[in-house]
Amino acid sequence: MEAPVEPAPRDDSAAVEEPLHRGPAPRPPAGSASSRHVCHDKHTDVRVPLLSVRDLRTWFRTDSSPRFRSNGWHRAVDGVSFDVHQGQTLGLVGESGSGKTTLARTILRLVPAREGSVHFRGVDLLHASRAQLRDLRRDVQMVFQDPLGTLNPRMTAEEIIAEPLRIHRAIHGTQLRSRVAALLEHVQLSPGHARRYPHELSGGQRQRIGIARAIALSPRLLLCDEPVSALDVSVQAQILNLLVDLKATLGLTYLLISHNLAVVEHMSQQLAVMYRGRIVERGPTDRVFARPAHPYTQALLASAVLDGRRQEATPRRSAATMVLLPQGCPYCPLCSIATERCASQTPESRPADAECGAHVVACHYPEEAGRLREQTTIAHPPSLIGPKDR
Ligand SMILES: Nc1ncnc2c1ncn2[C@@H]1O[C@H](COP(=O)(O)OP(=O)(O)OP(=O)(O)O)[C@@H](O)[C@H]1O
Ligand code: SF4
Ligand SMILES: [Mg+2]
Repeated sequence: MEAPVEPAPRDDSAAVEEPLHRGPAPRPPAGSASSRHVCHDKHTDVRVPLLSVRDLRTWFRTDSSPRFRSNGWHRAVDGVSFDVHQGQTLGLVGESGSGKTTLARTILRLVPAREGSVHFRGVDLLHASRAQLRDLRRDVQMVFQDPLGTLNPRMTAEEIIAEPLRIHRAIHGTQLRSRVAALLEHVQLSPGHARRYPHELSGGQRQRIGIARAIALSPRLLLCDEPVSALDVSVQAQILNLLVDLKATLGLTYLLISHNLAVVEHMSQQLAVMYRGRIVERGPTDRVFARPAHPYTQALLASAVLDGRRQEATPRRSAATMVLLPQGCPYCPLCSIATERCASQTPESRPADAECGAHVVACHYPEEAGRLREQTTIAHPPSLIGPKDR
């Protein structure tokens, strides 16, 4: 069972007055340089990112095996870099085991990083003091895939939501009750749900409780790890719409992990594609969907089924994918345009095309990959829910 973000004691009487609403995220005017439809070039975007991750590595000890790249280590996250700006949603996609959850847990310091840096609002989290970490745990919260597994079965909904407030804010009595009531309203639950235990709630209601707990301390950043994949399709849409509404009303920023391309396409302004512990492509979501530059991204999008029943991306795999070369591009065993160079040299990120500096790809041959794209049918998954969150 994944542990929720560990709360820490806090002497913070002033924080009691902090409003639940942080206010809507500043939205770029239509057609401005920061609009989703315009390529974000890192050279023109001068804002300081809310979250900045550089060359992050999280390796786990494992049995040595010459067949695997492990050499005694499993490189779950292996040199990941990206920025998330205030008010944006960065979608993170990739096959099972590519390191998405480990990346989120490393950002929260639930697992130790081996190398690299994570800056949140300019503070280096990997070397943060205890006081800075306490603030981190208020400002950065996680929404988990399986709400039942992360809610204490012996606590009522209101006790679950109140717990971080009680510990971090030291509020009690009427203040606490009214704040919990406001949070229940925010996640569209009635006061009657407050006294129920997790097993007395539906899956969607449990996820709403998990979200209420996550936003209780007015965080700035939510790491949402497959927040709807354990729910019915109809409930998925409700929870996604709730997340969209909360982002607008509370000024939240999301890192959204999902297998579901329709969800990511709907919710995210920026997209990162992970493969074997690395981000192989990232850029504005529309751009990556329209012009996927990495052969893996092309396979991922081509694998999406468009009949409305399944938008989970599951590219064809073979035993060859399990054999990791000691060096070189991790996609080499499956790539139809691989050369000897791919087997020996790990590709660095580079611009995917001349038109968009913010769209980058880790491939030695982006031009050849572009030609490959022209021959591949790319799926564009239908949205599950209403108008896009742009
Ligand atoms: N604590 C751990 N110890 C050892 N290996 C781990 C640990 N946590 C994760 N791993 C391994 O790291 C790799 C990445 O796991 P992770 O859970 O991050 O993948 P994921 O992309 O989130 O997959 P999924 O989409 O299935 O949730 C996997 O091979 C997993 O077995
Ligand atoms: S670097 Fe080589 S193997 Fe890797 S995706 Fe590009 S062409 Fe394929
Ligand atoms: Mg995961």
